Amino acid sequence: MFQTSRPRIQLLPPALCNQIAAGEVIERPASAVKELVENSIDAEARSITVELEDGGRQLIRITDDGIGMVPEDAELALQRHATSKIRTVEDLSAILTLGFRGEALPSIASVSKMTLTTQPKDALVGTRIEVDGGRIVSIREAAAAPGTCIEIRNLFFNTPARLKFLKQVPTELRRVQASLQQLALVNHDIHIKLIHGGTKRFDVPPNLELGDRLLAILGRETYDSLFPLPSLPTVAGCTIRGYFGAPSLHSRGNASQFTFVNGRFVKDRTISAAISTAYRELMHKGQTPVVGLMLEVPPAFVDVNVHPTKIEVRFQDNDVIFRTVFRALREGLAKAPWTGQSPQTPTRKATWSFDVPTDEDEPTTTDPTEDLRTVDTPVQRKLAGLYNNESAPDWVTRLMQTARATDDSAPDGPTVTLPARLRDVGPPGEAYFSRLVYIGQFAKSYLIANDGGGLVIIDQHAAHERITFERLKSSWRHRTPEAQQLLFPVQLELDALRAAIVEEFHAFFEEVGFDIEPFGHNTFAIKAVPGILSGAKTDRVLRDAIDDLSNSDRSTRLEEAKESVLSRMACHGSVRAGDHLTPDEAYALFTQMDTIDFRGHCPHGRPVYFKLPIEELEKRFDRR
Ligand SMILES: Nc1ncnc2c1ncn2[C@@H]1O[C@H](COP(=O)(O)OP(=O)(O)O)[C@@H](O)[C@H]1O
Ligand SMILES: [Mg+2]
Repeated sequence: MFQTSRPRIQLLPPALCNQIAAGEVIERPASAVKELVENSIDAEARSITVELEDGGRQLIRITDDGIGMVPEDAELALQRHATSKIRTVEDLSAILTLGFRGEALPSIASVSKMTLTTQPKDALVGTRIEVDGGRIVSIREAAAAPGTCIEIRNLFFNTPARLKFLKQVPTELRRVQASLQQLALVNHDIHIKLIHGGTKRFDVPPNLELGDRLLAILGRETYDSLFPLPSLPTVAGCTIRGYFGAPSLHSRGNASQFTFVNGRFVKDRTISAAISTAYRELMHKGQTPVVGLMLEVPPAFVDVNVHPTKIEVRFQDNDVIFRTVFRALREGLAKAPWTGQSPQTPTRKATWSFDVPTDEDEPTTTDPTEDLRTVDTPVQRKLAGLYNNESAPDWVTRLMQTARATDDSAPDGPTVTLPARLRDVGPPGEAYFSRLVYIGQFAKSYLIANDGGGLVIIDQHAAHERITFERLKSSWRHRTPEAQQLLFPVQLELDALRAAIVEEFHAFFEEVGFDIEPFGHNTFAIKAVPGILSGAKTDRVLRDAIDDLSNSDRSTRLEEAKESVLSRMACHGSVRAGDHLTPDEAYALFTQMDTIDFRGHCPHGRPVYFKLPIEELEKRFDRR
């Protein structure tokens, strides 16, 4: 039983306080390295060397050429809450350094055997302090180089619980490397080196441009699929710059998301949400894109004093951050700068086999030279939309004529041979698909073309679906639906629940181009449909849309639910695998591809095309 009349509370001794703090700040060698390198960066070092033995268990040594410390400071630095970086409460809302809590050195010192050697630039002699489990053992003058060297031996020797949780050497080493990568990406004017067991693992020379750093750190293959973000006007003092990866460049988990706020690597839910929303329809679930984003915000806009490891921050206004990140990525992605540039990664791993479809092709009655607009098959009605907006550019018509003239021998064959060097028509990337030379259709599903540098294989359904989706979305967004009156209204009989959905979303259907009139008893008459969907089965399109709307759970944003309905509609309104396409139709599809955004992927995130470069072909035939 307690004796309640006696005081029971006491202040903990400093050594124990430090060990408790170490529990939060120093989880493993990588966190010690992060804190110490951050200190070197704050000390204006130009060069930082990290040496490890045994994944950091035996030894971590960080040497910098920064401003160093005078003897008094060196001793003080080892005490808790001792910092040169802030002085007043006000300073806390304008932090420009990486550190400010004055916790790292005492925390690390309390769970290791530490030697700190330091000398300011203009001093003739330096200071060496030895600490054992937080207890200062000796303070001496020492001959040293300008800068600071911190040596940590036997990390966690006095905290067995922590020691037990350390992983194998390669795992700890990988974590250290990951932390250093993050620091090196944003501090691109500092030379950072990592040596493990005498072997150099990481060496990024100082280079001034962010792009160079990305190349040095992520490697050529990744770098080639990265593109600079467009520069957008500042929102509430927040700006963003950086690079974003093509959707083909994805990984699992978010190890390849390098996001920085005012030069600090952070993990932030708002930023991550903005990234995944921007890539939503370009990637499968569980895949994450590669991005390097540098946000600059007014110091008062962000609170960095949220978590001991300073990896989380809190923004004054999450919406501003979301919009800044989302818009920049969306704008960059919309231009799909990777189309027509470097080959996509899957190319290298693709297995190249021509599977002939097993079910016998039904004989086709379509004459490829026939004028599409006068014929009325379901495919042609679906594709007719491609011709409505604008006729093919002059040069396409010209090429088509050349093609027919040089290809008389094969009147209904899909082969078109063109002598023209299409790649010379203009800058690449701008008009990519419309400059392709069509070779033919394969398996009634894929359009094979030549881009001058290789074979391009396009998934006809995915391509058309993206076009239809972008058109539907844009006419809905801009409230310019192209409604097409139906000669005979379609009758739609629903149950009460679905009828209620139609009524609830009546305005939305109208905005897209449907004219739906109530007919009583949960029945509706469809009098007009969006022109672009005139080839689809009206009642199927609507029934699916209604089901999607009723299933969209309340947490998804309404806007998103509507977009997903549009993507479903687009699927109904697009040519399918198995539909025969004439060269005219294929060219019309190519031309339209260039007029829309996000052309590299279908609305469900599947790629629309891939390229087999000529070099790859030559390799396969042992010509290289
Ligand atoms: N490599 C270094 N070079 C110069 N000064 C350093 C270095 N590392 C630490 N210091 C000094 O020691 C102080 C305490 O460091 P630390 O415990 O990491 O706290 P914080 O970085 O939050 O200030 C720093 O404020 C800084 O003045
Ligand atoms: Mg620090």
